[in-house]
Amino acid sequence: MIDIEKARLDTPGSGARVHLNSAGASLPPTPVLDAVVSFLRGEALDGPTEAQVGADELLDNARSMLGQLSNCETDRVAFCTSASSGWTDALWGLRQSGWFSPGDYVLVDRSIYVTHFLALLQLKAVSEIRIVVVGDSTEGSVSMKQVADRLDERVRLVAVTHAPAHRGIVNPVEEIGELLDGRERCAYFVDAAQSIGQLSVDVERIYCDVLVGSGRKFLRAPRGSAVAVVSPRISDVLDPPGIDALSATWVSESAYSLHSGAKRLERYEGFIAGRVGLGKAAEYALAVGIVNISKRIELLAERLRSGLAAREHVVLLDGERARSGIVVFRIRGATAKAVQGMLSRMGYSVGLVKPWIALLDESAWSDGPCLRASLHYYNLEEDVVSFLDAVDTCRPVSRSS
Ligand SMILES: Cc1ncc(COP(=O)(O)O)c(C=O)c1O
Repeated sequence: MIDIEKARLDTPGSGARVHLNSAGASLPPTPVLDAVVSFLRGEALDGPTEAQVGADELLDNARSMLGQLSNCETDRVAFCTSASSGWTDALWGLRQSGWFSPGDYVLVDRSIYVTHFLALLQLKAVSEIRIVVVGDSTEGSVSMKQVADRLDERVRLVAVTHAPAHRGIVNPVEEIGELLDGRERCAYFVDAAQSIGQLSVDVERIYCDVLVGSGRKFLRAPRGSAVAVVSPRISDVLDPPGIDALSATWVSESAYSLHSGAKRLERYEGFIAGRVGLGKAAEYALAVGIVNISKRIELLAERLRSGLAAREHVVLLDGERARSGIVVFRIRGATAKAVQGMLSRMGYSVGLVKPWIALLDESAWSDGPCLRASLHYYNLEEDVVSFLDAVDTCRPVSRSS
């Protein structure tokens, strides 16, 4: 059980407004804020290069916390600036290693996030790969049958979104990992940008080659921090773009050697305070307990969904079996942007889902942008009730604003 009172005391942003936008970026807890500020202060007082000396221990600890959170050895953990950068560097690292040949297939789910699909389109332009979009089951998540039916020797990559940005469904990433087990020619990428910090992301169970997670979303870490977890078999294959002195050793005028492990995906220069904060956020999430977190988020999201579903002026747009903390809906006769503004003036922060976030899945946005309320464990049951009251006051009839 989570001590909600303590969690809120630890969350400076939890008092002023009702923050229902963790899928955009969540409120950091005080220990994360303190770790970042204290590191920045050290840089300001001692000099950033000098502060780096003390950083190594903090960064080792951060790597160890992120390893615990995703259930893997620390040498599988790489710091990135965003989930997109980790995912894209891993993709191009595969390409550079000769992984793809013309005519090879990449299977993706319909919820694939914009940046990942853009990277695949760029890859397609130079590699003649074919991208196959796997359809959904009746419940709205990836159809296991369709994945199984499409698998053959030409499939070189399967990329799946664990918790999509634009609907509350959760994809069966562990079952897909099981299906792919033993397929040495096929890499498996999992996008955990929205799931890390809210759901279990156990790479031993997901059995993926690359898993990326954003810091700023449900993990409650600073912006500009993210993690990539890479399997040993793939990290030693990757030849990532833009290597530097952290990812490789400059051996001679004509040679370099890539470092082993996930570190070859890292860049030397970066937001070190953010990496320290990312580790603190992982430590904090582990202390609260990921099972506790996901249960509480599910409870709050279910309350919100059932409240919204009972309202005639609301259309709920999540999948049949929505399970994540992301609740997507629209108000009949009103534009999402106008409602977002009204809610904001009443003290509620919610996000918008725009079509370009997940262009392949129009089930959420076919009538234009919609609203996204994303709950975290520090939100209160009372917040859900008062938010529903606020939604009741948003019944404009004009669609022109
Ligand atoms: C499902 C999903 N995947 C990937 C990303 C990209 O994450 P980042 O902004 O850290 O690159 C996002 C960002 O919103 C997302 O929602």
